[in-house]
Amino acid sequence: MLGRYVTRAVDAQSRWSKPLGDFNQRLLRAIFHPIRPIQNILNGTWLGHPLHAVVTDVPIGALTVSIVADLIGQPVVADVSMLVGVLAMVAAAVTGAADYAEVDGTARNRATVHSTLMVVSLLLYVVSLVIRSGNPPDRLVPILFAIVGYLILSLGATIGGDLVYLVGTHVNRHAWRGAGAKWIALDLGGLPDIPNGGPTKMKAGINELAIIRDGDRILAVHAQCAHAGGPLAEGVVTAEVIECPWHGSRFSMTDGHVVRGPAMYDQPAYEIRRAESGGWEVRRQAS
Ligand code: FES
Repeated sequence: MLGRYVTRAVDAQSRWSKPLGDFNQRLLRAIFHPIRPIQNILNGTWLGHPLHAVVTDVPIGALTVSIVADLIGQPVVADVSMLVGVLAMVAAAVTGAADYAEVDGTARNRATVHSTLMVVSLLLYVVSLVIRSGNPPDRLVPILFAIVGYLILSLGATIGGDLVYLVGTHVNRHAWRGAGAKWIALDLGGLPDIPNGGPTKMKAGINELAIIRDGDRILAVHAQCAHAGGPLAEGVVTAEVIECPWHGSRFSMTDGHVVRGPAMYDQPAYEIRRAESGGWEVRRQAS
């Protein structure tokens, strides 16, 4: 299976991709964290979908048109579509950088290889465009630059796809969690009752919840962050909004909606009531 060799080859780059990823991430966090609202726009928190995944379709389409136009002798179409493709690659790079700032471990190493390939491809396309702008009588050299750029772009796009499909980067961590209409007993974990304050981690069936309590007001969301699985029960709650300790996503404890990215998906929230047999029971809120 070809994909296995690509994965091995990408992981074999960790000697340089890990330190470069560390450096890139420190730099990107220094840029983006003071401007979180802009980072969240680039993440796609407002859209409920990763914006990078939307934008990347444009350069791949435009640059495919460009290479076909080059090969069939349509230079104007080739050059215009290449310009569109290069501008869209810059937009894809900016949205990708906002996401890349908040990935860890294997995903970050692979994202480093992915982004490095995309930057190399972009540079080749820029060189091709610059040569084309001089209207050379022979277009062989800029076409060769474009062909090599396209091959590298394709490899980079494959690795970018693997980041989602193989590693699960930016996949909703609750995609397979059923909504369910059943009330389930809350396991107090040996405590006499749900303690005031919190967040406190407690189990209900197979689900772990992060619960806060202020007297009769008890709110619960799933304890695994929708962004990358961070431990929400170890987060900080301010004004009924819980902040994930890993990358700072914030969710409303009342209904789970995402208040701040990088998460793009809402958090499952739960209703709590007294059980007739004593104790408490919970049910996932309708979204
Ligand atoms: S795991 Fe990334 S913000 Fe929670």
